[in-house]
Amino acid sequence: MTIEEFEARIPAVMDGYVAEQIRAGNWSAVDAGELARVEQHRLLPLGIATPGMHWYIARTQADEIVGYLWLATEPTDPITGGAWIYAIEVEPGYRGRGLGHQLLDAAELEARRLGARAIALNVFGANHVARQLYESSGYEVTSLQMRKTLH
Ligand SMILES: CC(C)(COP(=O)(O)OP(=O)(O)OC[C@H]1O[C@@H](n2cnc3c(N)ncnc32)[C@H](O)[C@@H]1OP(=O)(O)O)[C@@H](O)C(=O)NCCC(=O)NCCS
Repeated sequence: MTIEEFEARIPAVMDGYVAEQIRAGNWSAVDAGELARVEQHRLLPLGIATPGMHWYIARTQADEIVGYLWLATEPTDPITGGAWIYAIEVEPGYRGRGLGHQLLDAAELEARRLGARAIALNVFGANHVARQLYESSGYEVTSLQMRKTLH
């Protein structure tokens, strides 16, 4: 991904992250904007040039952009085993055609190339398509947060 593509994409990436945090009940809508700014600064202090952060654009052979990937690597991290997927997304008009699987395969190849022995990620419970993608690709649940709204 070029720096221009990164700058153009990061607001939508953070908006998506905020929406999921609110939907999961982790953040209130009131604080979400500020929390997202803090989180972005913590994770990406140098933007696309932050060490260990890798950004990719997925394109068709006709050069159409069909998705993107945000991968982090820390080969000595004992918890993740070396790689973490912060974001993986297929453009809405291209979903349901196997591109999610292709992008995930590419993430795994890259993670291995960068020295990782395992790859981990967080997925929200309500994201059934993403959970199906990971489960059928051999990902196992390592922790599970549960929540009940009290009336
Ligand atoms: C999650 C996402 C990347 C999947 O991409 P995709 O190209 O639609 O995925 P695929 O076509 O490769 O399908 C993946 C699996 O989900 C299933 N699936 C796809 N669309 C589905 C739908 N609408 N309903 C039910 N299952 C569906 C497929 O059958 C496939 O199942 P399989 O693994 O058993 O073969 C895409 O939906 C997306 O970008 N979502 C928004 C961003 C997001 O949530 N990212 C993940 C954050 S953790």
